[in-house]
Amino acid sequence: MTILVTGGAGFIGSNFIHDWLASTDETVINLDKLTYAGNLGNLRDIEHEPNYMFVRGDIAEVDRIRALLTNFKVRALVHFAAESHVDRSISGPMGFVETNILGTAHLLQAALEHWHRGNAFRFLHVSTDEVFGSLEPEDAPFVESSPYRPNSPYAASKAASDHLVRAYGETYGLPVLITHCSNNYGPYHFPEKLIPLLIHNATSGKQLPLYGDGMQVRDWLYVGDHCRALRMVLADGRPGQTYNIGGNAERQNIEVARTICAMLDDYLPLLDGGSYSSQIMLVRDRPGHDRRYAIDNTKLRSELGWSPLLSFDEGITKTVEWYLENPTWTAAVTGGSYRDWVAEQYT
Ligand code: NAD
Ligand code: DAU
Repeated sequence: MTILVTGGAGFIGSNFIHDWLASTDETVINLDKLTYAGNLGNLRDIEHEPNYMFVRGDIAEVDRIRALLTNFKVRALVHFAAESHVDRSISGPMGFVETNILGTAHLLQAALEHWHRGNAFRFLHVSTDEVFGSLEPEDAPFVESSPYRPNSPYAASKAASDHLVRAYGETYGLPVLITHCSNNYGPYHFPEKLIPLLIHNATSGKQLPLYGDGMQVRDWLYVGDHCRALRMVLADGRPGQTYNIGGNAERQNIEVARTICAMLDDYLPLLDGGSYSSQIMLVRDRPGHDRRYAIDNTKLRSELGWSPLLSFDEGITKTVEWYLENPTWTAAVTGGSYRDWVAEQYT
């Protein structure tokens, strides 16, 4: 049997494939379009594994998806592929509509045909807590039944895709599962997102830009804990259900920045004896910036027995160490050479 992963060359998808190959012999096919966020360098250590296969393609290419599902007797699809960066969705929303909404619709249609042919099948849609909008400081964390109130074009596109997935479950009986995860961090995180950007900018002597007053709150989860939760939901989640995934690790952005700076002060002291925190700078706020996210993960804990293995302090330590030990990965991304490698093999 085989599972099909979409978007497996991105941040969470590549971590998921590593985690999958480390925990099972089952073949995983990675279908990825290799947009700017797709990086085969994330998978170089496992690219020759016998139970791993890469296919360059778009989730909207229905014929290609149909062929993969049929030819490889795919028993489950884990859908990561998306445009994922909120700032980019503000400057250019249409790509988010095309991939996150239309792309997901095409994928669902191919999946439905596959399932109608009598194949045992599950469709796991990897979604986000951003579909629930923004919390006030006094609000309880998001639960699975929280109302949808997406604020950014990114969040709205993910909300729309959630509705399509749910509708395919309700209308056609397709065995679908939806997860809503909070902010991930860890290895292979594209340095346009807050944590890898802070580490990269700090060690490059650049400013550490915090939007607005820097007091927005995100609920951080180490990516390995997210991947393990996804494996558990795929195996034992109840079709038609949604599951919130979060690490109970709410932090203000300014706290995250100060924590990273303090760690770098220890690991890589500045020659003048100063602190990296002097590079922190408050800049113009993100339009429609959500103030606070927080996830109530009770359902996942009680139904499937999941809980995060790493605290934020442990996860951020592992993460900072990974970036310090892998400067060539970040340099390839920020310098653009990770695309040369794509171009050599796939154009
Ligand atoms: P990412 O941007 O790092 O990776 C996205 C991947 O999808 C890339 O490899 C890209 O090449 C691929 N892709 C984009 N468009 C495609 C298309 N049309 N066809 C095939 N492949 C395509 O994203 P990420 O941070 O790894 O997020 C993965 C998923 O998890 C997304 O659906 C995102 O909404 C969700 N999510 C992310 C977080 C987070 O904190 N990063 C939290 C919760 C949920
Ligand atoms: O909550 C889950 C979501 O987390 C995922 O669905 C998204 O795909 C993922 O990108 C992430 O969205 P955020 O917008 O929360 O992540 P980002 O890293 O862009 O920003 C985190 C916080 O840091 C947010 O409050 C904005 C702020 N920020 C971000 C950047 C890039 C800054 O203050 N400065 C920055 O330069």
